[in-house]
Amino acid sequence: MTDINKIRRDFPVLQQKNVVYFDTACQSLKPQVVLVAMLEYYQRSSACSGRSMHHLAAQVTRQCDDARAAVAKFIGAGKKEEVVFTRNTTEGINLVANSLPFQAGDVVLVSDKEHNSNLIPWQKLARRQGVVLKILPTLPDNTFDLDAYAKALTEPVRLVALGMTSNLDGVTIPAAEIVRLAHRAGALVLLDAAQTIPHHKVNVKALDADFLAFSGHKALGPTGTGVLYGKYDLLEKMEPFLVGGDTVANSTYTTCEFLPPPEKFEAGLQDYAGIIGLGSAVEYLQKLGFDWIRKQELAVNSVIDEGLRGIAGLILIGPADPALRGGISSFYIEGIDSHRVALMLDQMVGIQVRSGQHCVHSWFNARHIAGSLRASAYFYNTVDEARLLIENLQKIRKVL
Ligand code: ALA
Repeated sequence: MTDINKIRRDFPVLQQKNVVYFDTACQSLKPQVVLVAMLEYYQRSSACSGRSMHHLAAQVTRQCDDARAAVAKFIGAGKKEEVVFTRNTTEGINLVANSLPFQAGDVVLVSDKEHNSNLIPWQKLARRQGVVLKILPTLPDNTFDLDAYAKALTEPVRLVALGMTSNLDGVTIPAAEIVRLAHRAGALVLLDAAQTIPHHKVNVKALDADFLAFSGHKALGPTGTGVLYGKYDLLEKMEPFLVGGDTVANSTYTTCEFLPPPEKFEAGLQDYAGIIGLGSAVEYLQKLGFDWIRKQELAVNSVIDEGLRGIAGLILIGPADPALRGGISSFYIEGIDSHRVALMLDQMVGIQVRSGQHCVHSWFNARHIAGSLRASAYFYNTVDEARLLIENLQKIRKVL
């Protein structure tokens, strides 16, 4: 059995006072092993990957290759060349939006609760290239409406772009079925898996996703790291988004010959320390195992969920069953400012949550809801921390 106290000792931030961290959906904490991997890069080589001939560069090239292989194995990619390193999920989605050839009239289908990262790039394509952006409504409890989706696919769709797990409410969509229906209708699928990768075993081959983007920083990895998975034959045909250093095999004053994927998509000097740290993060997650991770976060979120039900006037966003929301509980009380509550929690007891519209402004604006307070639990949270959160929410409710 995994010892939670031992696990918590891996996370330096948790060793400080006034840290009860319920903001993993924004950014996860990092285990020491990831920090050491990054520090060692700077201490032992600090060189470039894939360029110079000297032994320090060769070491970095090997480490970055190993990190790519670790990520490919972690997500079940067919080969490591299908893993493109990016800065974050947003960059991965922008890469697809800019590199996949779209024509005026092409339809991009998203849901009505997408993070801005999976909405604004398509709005830009709509403005600039005449792409038609269609918004798929979700069911009243915020779960995916497969019937509405199947109906939407009776019209031509070029790309289905969906958040696989919502940062608003933690709901995970039936991605395999969604991909199957999209392919049957001739559409490609891009999954924004930023909130899925840290919590669920994801296998891109089993899902048959065409593209899948995620961030390192929510999955124990460094900030400024991310991954775009793409099927190799699609990546091969796509024009690179950012171009320049290390994307080409050769160039003249007027022409260039691009390298094959993934290099042609990784322009300029990369965040080698970050890439090595990300490799170490996915190995840490793999060792812990997603069965245990899910069990732990659900145990914590169930205690939060039960406590929230006793607070007068509280409205929970998403399905009632916490098992359908992973580690997330997102809620609001009419007339009470969520930012104020978040500040009070931090100042009174050192509890960190996120407040506001969580980069899903469109969903809140359409419903005239000012914002919510979001507690997002991860495997390093405890049931005692969940109780502390509830006790203090009850106290705050009495005074506001
Ligand atoms: N997407 C991140 C969040 O939901 C920033 O907090």
